[in-house]
Amino acid sequence: MTEREAPLWAGRFTKAPAPEAEALSKSLGFDLRMATQDVRASVAHVRGLEDAGLLSEAEANALASALIEVGKDIEAGRMAFRPADEDVHSVVERAVTDRLGALGAKLHAGRSRNDLVVTDLRLWLLDAWARIEGGTRRLARALITHAREHAETVMPGMTHGRLAQPVTLGHHLLAHAWALSRDLDRLRGWAERTSVSPLGAGALATPTLPLDPARSAERLGFRGVFSNSLDAVSDRDFVQEFLAHAAILGTHLSRLAADLIRWSDESIGWAELDEAFSTGSSMMPQKRNPDIAELSRAKVGRLLGDFTALSTVLAGLPLGYHRDLQEDKEPLFDAADTLEATLAALAGCTETIQFRPGVMCAAARADVLYATDVAEALAANGLPFREAHRRIGDLLRRLDEEDRSLRDLSEAEWKEIGLPGGNVLLDPVRAVGARSVPGGPSPGSVRDQADALARILEGLDTLSP
Ligand code: ARG
Repeated sequence: MTEREAPLWAGRFTKAPAPEAEALSKSLGFDLRMATQDVRASVAHVRGLEDAGLLSEAEANALASALIEVGKDIEAGRMAFRPADEDVHSVVERAVTDRLGALGAKLHAGRSRNDLVVTDLRLWLLDAWARIEGGTRRLARALITHAREHAETVMPGMTHGRLAQPVTLGHHLLAHAWALSRDLDRLRGWAERTSVSPLGAGALATPTLPLDPARSAERLGFRGVFSNSLDAVSDRDFVQEFLAHAAILGTHLSRLAADLIRWSDESIGWAELDEAFSTGSSMMPQKRNPDIAELSRAKVGRLLGDFTALSTVLAGLPLGYHRDLQEDKEPLFDAADTLEATLAALAGCTETIQFRPGVMCAAARADVLYATDVAEALAANGLPFREAHRRIGDLLRRLDEEDRSLRDLSEAEWKEIGLPGGNVLLDPVRAVGARSVPGGPSPGSVRDQADALARILEGLDTLSP
């Protein structure tokens, strides 16, 4: 085995890895994207070695500059990789050693790839979180903007996908925005828990060299430092938790997308997707398909798959680093990339959708949407609700048979029911206005909800307990 081809760990080996073993174990193809984080962690480690008196100031400066240059070369695509470059950590160390010779060989004192990889991963994921948070806020803001504009737009509210009771479009849109605000809250809590530095844990038991993990944590901008070195290198629940939150956020995106698809169905006509977020058919010239919303609806499948993939790797794995843990990265990168792309596309789709309030309001005139209000009016007059429900059900059945609707009832018939002037109950604007309890669909409540959400998004308020 020549010196140049040997992997970093080849000291006690007399044989090079078999090509097929190398092919399975190599992670460079996917972990190179942590190069920036690997350089950051390595520079912090170099400063730690300097503090410990293991490197002179000049040596530490030379190592730090070489690390930064290596980082730039990788980012600019100028790095020439070699077969023995197993992963991002090996490349960075090897390239620094190429530049500095014997000094480069001092870099790995007191650290292991086991603490390094998980330091890189936490740094990478915290960077990704900032982007995902930005995308989630953008989408929530788009929903709030539409909701304010449509605080008074009445639409049919549905249960089981069937006509239920009138609501306002603003109320429906904010229901999606509230879900996103919980995602933001969960992710913020996750980020706080994840901001813990594992650097200095070594392979599992901390090094005997006089390094200060707390100082490294500070240098890297982590909020805290590991409490147990074995936990520090074994723990991937920060990845698992991220993937769980990603799957929940993805579920919310999917449900919003499902509404946009339904509303923009031309047989419903409540909204129109912008051309920039629609696609055509290769065969049917008339088509304007909601592919972007459809893909946003479907992406949750792979997010759940990513969570399942990692959870399966972790379950039953004894503590300590195992190479199994390398399988954390692809699901994680996939989930972060998927969320980022989906959030951006769905935010654009939501920002540009054109609602058709006239069509929605016309649909909201369907008399059955007011049947509950009529029964509640009877209950307000003292009739037991179960009896009121039965009477109105009976009335609706009769009207159906006569091919009439509640709107065709004469004043005499309303009196007979016990609700003189009951016709006003069928007015959509009155019906939503009567639901002004905080959290209800009335225009006033929608405006209050929008204000509360905007404050939460600006970080001025937290979600109430
Ligand atoms: N590429 C490895 C991973 O992603 C880095 C850690 C390797 N450590 C080891 N002891 N083989 O997990």
